[in-house]
Amino acid sequence: MTEHVLVEKSGGVLTLTLNRPEKKNALTGEMYAKVGDSITAANDDPSIRCVLIQANGDMFTSGNDLASFAAVNSGETPAGDRRGGSALILALAAAKVPIVAAVNGRAVGVGTTMLLHCDQVLVDENALLTTPFVNLALVPEAASSITLPARIGHARAFSMFVLGEAVDAKKAEAWGIANAVVPAGELRARARAVAEAIASKPPAAVAITKALMRESARYLARIEEEGGHFGNQLKSPEAKEAFAAFREKRAPDFSKAG
Ligand code: COA
Repeated sequence: MTEHVLVEKSGGVLTLTLNRPEKKNALTGEMYAKVGDSITAANDDPSIRCVLIQANGDMFTSGNDLASFAAVNSGETPAGDRRGGSALILALAAAKVPIVAAVNGRAVGVGTTMLLHCDQVLVDENALLTTPFVNLALVPEAASSITLPARIGHARAFSMFVLGEAVDAKKAEAWGIANAVVPAGELRARARAVAEAIASKPPAAVAITKALMRESARYLARIEEEGGHFGNQLKSPEAKEAFAAFREKRAPDFSKAG
C-alpha cells in the first residue's frame, strides 16, 4: 500500500511529506496520526531540531477527507471512533519542536489552520488558502477561532471562515500568514534552507523562544471547545447536505436542511 505520509530525517531536520496526490492530499485518520505522532516524538528526540512539512502533487492538501466526514454524518463511523484530525491538531498546538511549512498550491481547511501553528511558512506563487468550514456547515478547528483573528484581524478572518474567502500567496504574505512567496520550483529548497538554519541554532534557546511565543494551554482548551461544536455540526442535517453536494458535484441547497 502507498505510504500517504513519507518520513525522512537528515541534518537535524525531520521532513514529513504528504503523499496522497491522487486525492489532492486529503487527510485521513492515518495521515493525521502519522504527522501528529511524528511531531510529538520529535519533541523528545534531541537529534531532531526542526520539522518540515511539505506535500507531493499539485496542492498542499484539500483538507480533511470528506468521505470520512460523511461517514460520521451518516452514522457509518460512530463519532467516538473517529480518530480524525485531533491527533494532528493536538500535536501541533503542543509542539515544542520548531515547524516549517512549504505550501505548494491550495491549502484547504486544516491545511490552512495548521499553518498558524507553524513557525515559518513559505508559499509558492500558486498558493491559495481557504477555510471553508461554514460552507460545509462546520466550524473552525485547531484553535483557529483564536489564531486566525489574532494573526489577520477579525474582519479578514470572518471573511475567510464565513464567506469562504480565498487568500492567495501575496495576501498570505501581506497578512502575516506566510513569511515569503517563492517560485514553485524553488519552494522545497528554500524551505529546507530555512529548516536547516533553525536546526543550526542553539536548541534550548530555540525551544524556549517558541514556547514563550505560543499559548499552548489556551490553544488546547479552545480546541476542546471547538471540537464539541464541530462534532455536533458534523452530524447535522446541514452538513449532510454539504457532503452530499460535494459527492454529487453540485452546489449545496441549505434551504432544505435544518
Ligand atoms: N476529501 C476526499 N476526497 C477529495 C477531497 C477531500 N477533501 N478533495 C479532493 N478529493 C478527491 C476528489 O473527490 C477526486 O477524487 P476522484 O478522482 O476519485 O473523483 C480527486 O480528489 C481530485 O479532486 P478534484 O475535485 O477533481 O480536483 P480539483 O483540482 O478539480 O479540485 C479542490 C481540488 C481541492 C478544489 C476540490 O477537490 C475540493 O474542493 N475538495 C474539497 C475540499 C474541502 O472542502 N475540504 C474539507 C475542508 S474542511
